[in-house]
Amino acid sequence: MYIGLDLGTSSLKAILIDDDQSILAEHAVPLTVSRPQDGWSEQDPSQWFAATDLAMKSLAAQTDLSAVRGIGLAGHMHGATLLDDADKVLRPCILWNDTRSADEASALDSDPQFRDLSGNIVFAGFTAPKTVWVKNNEPKNFAKLAKVLLPKDYLRLLLIGDHVAEMSDAAGTSWLDVAKRDWSDDLLNACDLDRSHMPRLVEGSQSSGTLLDALAQDWGLPKGVVVAGGGGDNAASAIGAGVVSKGDAFVSLGTSGVLFAASDAYQPDAASAVHTFCHALPDTWHQMGVILAATDALQWLSRLTGQSASDLTSDLGPLQAPARTLFLPYLGGERTPHNNPAMRGQFLHLDQATDAKEAARAVLEGVTFAFADCHDALRSTGTVIERALALGGGAKSDYWLSAIATTLNLPLMLPQAGDFGAALGAARLGMMAASGAGIEIATLPPIEKAIEPQSAHIAAFTDTHARYRAAYSALKDL
Ligand code: XUL
Repeated sequence: MYIGLDLGTSSLKAILIDDDQSILAEHAVPLTVSRPQDGWSEQDPSQWFAATDLAMKSLAAQTDLSAVRGIGLAGHMHGATLLDDADKVLRPCILWNDTRSADEASALDSDPQFRDLSGNIVFAGFTAPKTVWVKNNEPKNFAKLAKVLLPKDYLRLLLIGDHVAEMSDAAGTSWLDVAKRDWSDDLLNACDLDRSHMPRLVEGSQSSGTLLDALAQDWGLPKGVVVAGGGGDNAASAIGAGVVSKGDAFVSLGTSGVLFAASDAYQPDAASAVHTFCHALPDTWHQMGVILAATDALQWLSRLTGQSASDLTSDLGPLQAPARTLFLPYLGGERTPHNNPAMRGQFLHLDQATDAKEAARAVLEGVTFAFADCHDALRSTGTVIERALALGGGAKSDYWLSAIATTLNLPLMLPQAGDFGAALGAARLGMMAASGAGIEIATLPPIEKAIEPQSAHIAAFTDTHARYRAAYSALKDL
């Protein structure tokens, strides 16, 4: 048996699988995000262990856990969890969708060694500029800083008692030499840090240590359970969905939106604002376009209208030509393709007849056009996607998937009901680390149906995508 723990932005999810990868039990615990100022997004790291404890106790109540051999971890990427020399958390974790360090990010990004060695733009949401922001704005915290850990790696510290990171998540810090799969002394020094501030590195499918005996006893697990390196949530989702070889791809409609393509070589193209990171398996990399608000944009509209996201999107019927109302989903700035942390969301062409339903359709379409921008950015790097799996909570909406398939002119494969995301990927990495299994266990999910592009609507979606791009260009400096 193997356990996957996925520390998501809005919930921590635990799943238990048997040796045939059938899901035996699962449990999710909600987490909260605080937004104390415009552009800020923080989470209290003490929530992560508390949620894990609840989730593990729930799994133990559902099934006997004495046959568990491995655990894998996945987590939201880029967060800066800052610890002092006694491993005490110095301040709330600054999350992936926090843009307060925009100035620090562009200053680091103007130093060419960052793009050269890390393969990526230094985005405001990445880890390195956050520590520079802390140095500039909270010098007392910076003076006490002894270790910087990514969110799931802080959770790992509490599980195994050691500071360890793995390549896929480390690649999103701006401190990793992504080709060499090692920390870069030069990039760390440029942020007044050094290797002593960094955890030890392993591959996602390797062991990072074993679960502490006291926790094993508390949760009914045997002694010596291996904890795998695991992966950033996107790389872990890819392992869960079998997106591991060149040509494999997925679209993820989660809090963030991700168009992910596996690749067999390191082929960075930072200027495109495409992310090029290590995969969670040795000697593999991946590319992805990342938009900061996918289902998050719908959640925002839901808060605004007081109607649930499913009520807003439930009876949209078959795909129609796009609404005249246009929505730009840049509620917290955007990464791919704009690298613009200062941009904010826009509704355009509202009229007397615009109601919540029309606004909801415009939100789904706006996120769709943001995915089309990511697709164009990936194509500009030479990456060809012929079909993609559809993952994440938003993939429950056929309307949304049809709009994306039509605009990107790409069939989307919808997995059968079940969990094929980051928690399963984490469990698979736990299985690899504990049993010696390899890439062969990262199989594709059974497909329920293919959502094909609707040729009757392609021209209308292409035209509206052009309107959307024009709206961004007109508004970005306003
Ligand atoms: C990826 C990214 C998000 C987070 C949260 O670069 O920032 O996808 O990992 O899920």
